[in-house]
Amino acid sequence: MKNIPVIMIIFGGSGDLAHRKLYPSLFNLYEQGLIHDNFAVIGTARRPWSHEYLRGQVSDAIHETHDQVNENEVKDFASHFYYQSHDVTNVEHYETLKKLAQELDDRYSAQGNRLFYMAMAPRFFGTIATHINDQHLTGSGFNRIVVEKPFGHDLASAEELNEEITASFDENDIFRIDHYLGKEMIQNIMPMRFTNPLIKNIWSGDYIKNMQITLAERLGVEARGGYYDTSGALRDMVQNHIFQIITLLAMPEPKDLSSDSVHQAKQDLLKSLIIPTPEEVKNDFVRGQYLGSDTTFAYKKEPNVDPNSTTETFVAGKAKFTSGPLAGVPIYFRTGKEFKEKKTRIDIVLKHINNPYGQAHSNNITIEVDPESKIYITINGKKIDEPGIRREDLTYAFSKEEMAKVPDGYERLLHDVFVNDSTNFTHWSELKRYWEFIDAVENAWQKENEAGNPEITQYLPYRMGPKESNDIFESPTEHWIYE
Ligand code: BG6
Repeated sequence: MKNIPVIMIIFGGSGDLAHRKLYPSLFNLYEQGLIHDNFAVIGTARRPWSHEYLRGQVSDAIHETHDQVNENEVKDFASHFYYQSHDVTNVEHYETLKKLAQELDDRYSAQGNRLFYMAMAPRFFGTIATHINDQHLTGSGFNRIVVEKPFGHDLASAEELNEEITASFDENDIFRIDHYLGKEMIQNIMPMRFTNPLIKNIWSGDYIKNMQITLAERLGVEARGGYYDTSGALRDMVQNHIFQIITLLAMPEPKDLSSDSVHQAKQDLLKSLIIPTPEEVKNDFVRGQYLGSDTTFAYKKEPNVDPNSTTETFVAGKAKFTSGPLAGVPIYFRTGKEFKEKKTRIDIVLKHINNPYGQAHSNNITIEVDPESKIYITINGKKIDEPGIRREDLTYAFSKEEMAKVPDGYERLLHDVFVNDSTNFTHWSELKRYWEFIDAVENAWQKENEAGNPEITQYLPYRMGPKESNDIFESPTEHWIYE
């Protein structure tokens, strides 16, 4: 693998994301030789850490995520890390950071390449982007920036942030990260759709009745109540992860697999996304909040959550397109905290056909993303010793050994940033369209809240969310396949 020279600056170097995801992933890429002799990482945060302390943290992060490691390699890797105490609002601090980056660039022959990673509270993204620009932090080689979610709070704030970032970076150098796009089975949607005649030929409203996407979580908001209460399930999960899945399911076939062609196909589709009217939001969307149990708090009693909060911890809704292979096909989705289990799955529900046996089921195709990775198709056949139809699943799965080789989503996506492949990142035009949809729903909800009659269902924890989510289907013959 090619060794990429680079100085990486992580804003939020003392944080949880850096510790749990970035440091272990960077170590794996280091072991593979993608970054090796010519790289250094500057971790920045407000805390007064030393280089040595950060190196200790990096080493801990690797030991926590790897069963066996070569201690010399860990030490060597950690020696590439430097810490800079940094207040993102203080202009002088960018001056110090710039000097350190330049010094390390010379020491490691990093060829002026810079990678900036925004891994801190989103409210600082704009300030950091502005100062990268006005304090000239970019280098003379490539300059790339990775931006964590949420990218804005609504379309207006996303546009503002985008302007601040594009002052220093071209669209091609902005990597808006969505960790779902690094997941094995999400990356499997395109090959599954486009290489199987059996699947490709039925991918239309002639055969498909609806699609159903479920992102169910077992956990509640835990320690993130403060953030979550300003966000809610729609912004936290639908605006990014669910919409990227919808796009992969509904987009036309790209002309080739280049990043440009894939994004072009996505954008062609998104032009025809139907933005719901307030009336449609009322009929096609359900929002809810979890109640408490013997051992857990109700959402409204969680720490840092407003006791009168109208923020949803569950949402179900519908998306539709007027063009593309799924034109007119309803794509239902739901996501929520405190479901009965952690499960991410996509169900593709086929239309029934008339047949002399009468009772046959339609063939459904299910893509399970988490916790297992598999695809299964239900098939009808005859029962052995009695009349009637038997139903079995044909499963496409991976062995344990294969699963062990699947890299973490972050490792995959960081690799893509180093090799400059933005296929699995969110393009601004996609993000913009997603926000237009989300804003329409949020605005309709906001009006209901202001009128004093918000329909927010309180649901029992550790089940399947509010039962009202069964009311969003277009016809009485439709229901959630995963129950
Ligand atoms: C994050 C959300 O983007 O995705 C979290 O902010 C959520 O609220 C998480 O828990 C779910 O990710 P995964 O990979 O565990 O399904």
